[in-house]
Amino acid sequence: MDVFQPIPIDVIQINEKSVVDLYVRQDDRLVSFLEKGGIFTKEHLGDLDRYGVKKVFVREREKAALAEYVNSFSDRILTDPSVPSKVKAATFYISSVYAVKKAFDDPNEERIEEIKKTLKPMLVSIVKNEVLLSDLFSITEYDYSTYTHSVNVGIYATSLAVTYYKSDSTIRREELERLSYGYFLHDIGKSKIPLSILRKKGKLSREEWVIMKKHPEWGYSILMETGHLTDEAAYISMQHHERPDGSGYPSGMTDIHPCARICTIADIYEALTSVRPYKSAMKPFDALKLIQEEALTEFDLDLLRTLIRLLGPQADHMQVSHQRT
Ligand SMILES: [Fe+2]
Ligand SMILES: [Fe+2]
Repeated sequence: MDVFQPIPIDVIQINEKSVVDLYVRQDDRLVSFLEKGGIFTKEHLGDLDRYGVKKVFVREREKAALAEYVNSFSDRILTDPSVPSKVKAATFYISSVYAVKKAFDDPNEERIEEIKKTLKPMLVSIVKNEVLLSDLFSITEYDYSTYTHSVNVGIYATSLAVTYYKSDSTIRREELERLSYGYFLHDIGKSKIPLSILRKKGKLSREEWVIMKKHPEWGYSILMETGHLTDEAAYISMQHHERPDGSGYPSGMTDIHPCARICTIADIYEALTSVRPYKSAMKPFDALKLIQEEALTEFDLDLLRTLIRLLGPQADHMQVSHQRT
């Protein structure tokens, strides 16, 4: 039986051939909207608009073809100032999941370079306010895979860093770019972990945990071997599982670089609010509350406040008090 995935209509190009069959939901079933090879026209978009349809469905097994199609337009879409923010956000999301997936399948120099190429125009748009962080936040998907996780954490952590460092006039765009690459690649070391461990439904055994905990160091070596290791990427890959009280791994250090701490908060929030093979998703409000209870430093609380502001209505008026309770 075919499995279908929703995709934002914003990524389908007007006056271009569709590379996959498109379906829309009608009552409780999916009906064909445009066959593969058919031209998607303004009239099609008008029809969908009239019924308030924001998502179309594609077969799961055709998702790679769709991602490649979106990717082939992404440069143009992301660098065109007249394209609306939500179209850019949707295009960026699909292209970056595609680029990260390819890098995880085979983490070589060119594939990591490709991630950088996808991220760059997006960061320029974020800094110029051509893409709203709220549009990026609302586009995140939660089908669990290491690369969807990487992209979601990349988006959350980049947004936190952009907002957090905005007041710092000395930070340059290149530094933000290096931070962002580090966030999207924070778990690249997991590409060396067997899928039987990554996708395990039950608890990991002691031996499996030993392997899992190697991913920060493996990430560091991959980045070094492929010539993509910057100071920022080194801190982020090595320290994103360290904790200020020394309870983290791999080294149990307490003096954690702030750029890695940003990654940790984004990483924990993403892990709590996404579906995993062994758990359902937590609501944003509950996840934020849990992070607040376990926040170890004033810096963590500052980051949490920023995250709440960025999440807007999703955070449901949550407030973070100055003093830890
Ligand atoms: Fe990790
Ligand atoms: Fe992670």
